[in-house]
Amino acid sequence: MNPWTVLGKAEIPNGGGELKLSQREEEFSIRLSGVRGELMNSRVHNSEEALAQLGCAHLKLVENAHVLVGGLGMGFTLAAALKAISSPSKVTVAELIPAVVEWNRGPLGKCAGDPLQDPRTDIHIGDVAKLLFNQNKPAFDAILLDVDNGPEGLTHSDNHRLYSLDGLGGIKKALRAEGMLAIWSAFPDQSFLNRLKKIGFSAKMQTVRARVGKGSRHTIFLAKKL
Ligand SMILES: C[S@@+](CC[C@H](N)C(=O)[O-])C[C@H]1O[C@@H](n2cnc3c(N)ncnc32)[C@H](O)[C@@H]1O
Repeated sequence: MNPWTVLGKAEIPNGGGELKLSQREEEFSIRLSGVRGELMNSRVHNSEEALAQLGCAHLKLVENAHVLVGGLGMGFTLAAALKAISSPSKVTVAELIPAVVEWNRGPLGKCAGDPLQDPRTDIHIGDVAKLLFNQNKPAFDAILLDVDNGPEGLTHSDNHRLYSLDGLGGIKKALRAEGMLAIWSAFPDQSFLNRLKKIGFSAKMQTVRARVGKGSRHTIFLAKKL
């Protein structure tokens, strides 16, 4: 098998270390520096797509829906969200690291069918928290978060806030009535589920496989604003 070739490296803000994009034949990998390991691999994306399918299931017949995806990664969640919505609707995708957006405009684009080229996609280069916590009225029908390995700040220490009571309260305010918050996680977390319920969401955990019908078991937290 051919060795990995490093295609690019990028700094994570606030001293969060480095992100590295590598390619081996048709396979791409994004890794975090140190012991934190692989963030994303282009061969394993079933649960990233399920995040959007489950989080947007209520939007099939809704016109002018607005979905927020954080972050871009390899674009699988974004592409699945675009498939899940009707055409006058739109998806805003927030990505913290500018190089990840460049990589998706270049070699990574083909992984998920170039979802950044879809006219319904708006890209926000920056922290998804800015879009979540600076709305003066409810703005999104679905918020799909896959920025860490689970409900704790891994990629970026500021992400801890997203999963706190304060952060979840802010996210609930950013959701429209009947809106859905969906969060990807590599593991189940009962205490996080309890926190979602404490904020007033109708919440559950759903297990999805990393590959269709096989592979690791991942968790999608689904929290509906009543
Ligand atoms: C696991 S990847 C996302 C994978 C994506 N679901 C897919 O389908 O390919 C996590 C992404 O979130 C980005 N990220 C981390 N923290 C963020 C934040 N606070 N705001 C926006 N993007 C963030 C990372 O740079 C990375 O691109």
